[in-house]
Amino acid sequence: MEIYSTGSGGSLPLRFLLFLLLVSSPLLLSPVLSASSVRCHPADRAALLRIKDSFSQESPDNFTSWDPNINCCNWAFVQCDDKTNRVNSLTIQQTGVRHIPAAIGDLPYLERLTFEDFPKLTGSIPSSFTKLQNLKLFQIWNSGLSGPIPEFLSELRNLEYLELSQSKLSGPIPSSLANLRKLATLVLKSNKLTGHIPDSFGRFNTDVTGGFTLDLSHNQLFGEIPRSLGQLDYMTIDLSYNRLVGDASLLFKENGAAQYIYLSNNDFDFDLSKVRFPQNLTFLVLTHNKVRGSIPEQVTELDSLLLFDVSYNRLCGKIPVGGNIQKLGIFSFLHNRCLCGPPLPIKCM
Ligand SMILES: *[C@@H]1O[C@H](CO)[C@@H](O)[C@H](O)[C@H]1NC(C)=O
Ligand SMILES: *[C@@H]1O[C@H](CO)[C@@H](O)[C@H](O)[C@H]1NC(C)=O
Repeated sequence: MEIYSTGSGGSLPLRFLLFLLLVSSPLLLSPVLSASSVRCHPADRAALLRIKDSFSQESPDNFTSWDPNINCCNWAFVQCDDKTNRVNSLTIQQTGVRHIPAAIGDLPYLERLTFEDFPKLTGSIPSSFTKLQNLKLFQIWNSGLSGPIPEFLSELRNLEYLELSQSKLSGPIPSSLANLRKLATLVLKSNKLTGHIPDSFGRFNTDVTGGFTLDLSHNQLFGEIPRSLGQLDYMTIDLSYNRLVGDASLLFKENGAAQYIYLSNNDFDFDLSKVRFPQNLTFLVLTHNKVRGSIPEQVTELDSLLLFDVSYNRLCGKIPVGGNIQKLGIFSFLHNRCLCGPPLPIKCM
């Protein structure tokens, strides 16, 4: 907004202020004009034209609407704030672009930035993105983006939603992402990430609307879940399809907010008998691990339970009777060491 501000508070004479406003943005004073005729901010238009230049070789057909004679707020993929006319959203979908231009960092009022469906997109995220201090949503999915997840993303202090998924990101997950205190959703699924889940991830601020979501599924993460994750009062956690080992029972807290827990296809090895499930548990997927012990009776008290898949583990004993359990079908319980009783057609001795 700097172009519309007077700089020195109320000390300038009113007539001079009006003059300034008239030369800098005459249309601001004409509420009768429709929003579409208001020209976009010149600095934003200049940045967008640099972005277009950078894309023009790669994707000539997709940016024809980016015509300098048309209000840039009406260009494809671009949205502006209704009041300030600053570009606040860029959603680039299904184009032929092959890289992420550094000039995007010159759209300082950007709140939402999405790149989706870009198999041809390669390279990495430019460090100029640290200038996007208003960014709340940053999403790249289905791309050829590679290399490590940059540490500098943790400088985007207003991020609420960060998704870098279905790409080719590799290396460890930066522990500094836990410094993003407004983050409510972190999705890094379907990459080639390695290393441990950072200790710092127990410190995410989970006091966020809608509950906290952590999705690290379909990577190559290894080692044990850090004990600190037992402190994380998440709503949704997905660690499935990794190479995680050891105890996952620390993720279950009876008074926790958890509703969706996906831990399948790892090497978790713990005793389920002692687990107390979260009261609002809706989906639990534990299939393809090495979970031992028996299924706790408390599972019959979970009124919201819709999915409880413990197949392909090492569980034993009688399946508790009651609640939704017998309605879940046999496939949720198959391929264990010695589970018995309904819905399985195996009588308990
Ligand atoms: C981008 O251009 C390609 C090639 O002309 C076309 O197939 C695709 O549909 C375009 N995408 C959009 C979102 O306009
Ligand atoms: C469980 O869900 C109810 C209803 O949505 C909610 O009021 C309650 O706070 C939830 N319990 C926990 C521990 O989050």
